Amino acid sequence: MIKIGMLTSGGDCQALNAAMRGVVKTLTNSGEKVEIYGFLDGYRGLIYGNYRMLTGSDFSGILTVGGTILGTSRTPFKLIHEPDENGINKVDAMKKTYKKLKLDCLVILGGNGTHKTANLLREEGLNVVTLPKTIDNDLWGTDMTFGFQSAVDIATNAIDCIHTTAASHGRVFIVEVMGHKVGWLTLNAGMAGGADIILLPEIPYDIDKVVDAIEKRSKNGSRFTIIAVAEGAISKEDAKLSKKAYKEKLRNRPYPSVSYEVAAQIQEKTGREVRVTVPGHVQRGGSPCPYDRVFASRLGSEAGKLILDGEYGFMVGYRNREIVKVPLEEVAGKLKMVSPDSSIVKEGKLLGICFGD
Ligand code: F6P
Repeated sequence: MIKIGMLTSGGDCQALNAAMRGVVKTLTNSGEKVEIYGFLDGYRGLIYGNYRMLTGSDFSGILTVGGTILGTSRTPFKLIHEPDENGINKVDAMKKTYKKLKLDCLVILGGNGTHKTANLLREEGLNVVTLPKTIDNDLWGTDMTFGFQSAVDIATNAIDCIHTTAASHGRVFIVEVMGHKVGWLTLNAGMAGGADIILLPEIPYDIDKVVDAIEKRSKNGSRFTIIAVAEGAISKEDAKLSKKAYKEKLRNRPYPSVSYEVAAQIQEKTGREVRVTVPGHVQRGGSPCPYDRVFASRLGSEAGKLILDGEYGFMVGYRNREIVKVPLEEVAGKLKMVSPDSSIVKEGKLLGICFGD
């Protein structure tokens, strides 16, 4: 008999259900008896012992369903050692739940913050296997996370739709793509959608370079310009500020997001009409794309195999086209960012894309 606890934590994404189904199918197909405790709403379920007993049939028919059947929530790692409002020590509470249920292993699906807590639980002696989810694709130790390709499809579709209306009206259009800290999604959707300018958190922009790129296009006969802007895009001047001063600036910024600030600056400097579109959480929603269904199923099944082999303390990731197990201590606390010197950025520049630098 194998007793596993499973939870999904942090912002949701497509293919969480597909990944969990992959784990459970692999375990149940092995012929082992399996008991599955589904903790509700992320680590919160583990802290407060809030779970549902699940069987194989709960994972049937969910391959194509977005979101997570377990629910999710954010439990910030920086607050993990602080007692909750009732004085409960969260780490002790999670260990207590695990021990009380006599679990053999926890299967944790999540992104960066989730992996810090997963690694902490490993250090505290719990058996943990994790799976890399996030539309941001910013998890260290894996070339790809599930959810990312589905979000690229959605953000690309948004840019495609904007393209036709931008062309009709001869306007400058900004599409704001998710990603506060990293720009993988903006970079890929921007390139896939033929954006003329792409602004990423990792490459601070100079607004005059952005304006020059728009004017150059106009001189060359293009009536419109498409700009893909990451949520966390930052100007060169702002990048020089301390973290605290930048946060303060954001608090007082008279715009809902960076895209509106960029739009106002372009409008002021060029006199052109600029429109902003923010697809927002649409990018995290709906059915996973076929790539993510296959990818998450493969990761899930490899996680199931690790459990059957009693190998714990790993994230199942993807490197150089191989599914691999990556020690959790290597993953936790690191971000995989877009390097300004990466070949994809260089190729983008060769294609004529302006990155504002
Ligand atoms: O981590 C995924 C993500 O969708 C980011 O791209 C985005 O910046 C953030 O979550 C939004 O968080 P929330 O759902 O809490 O608004």
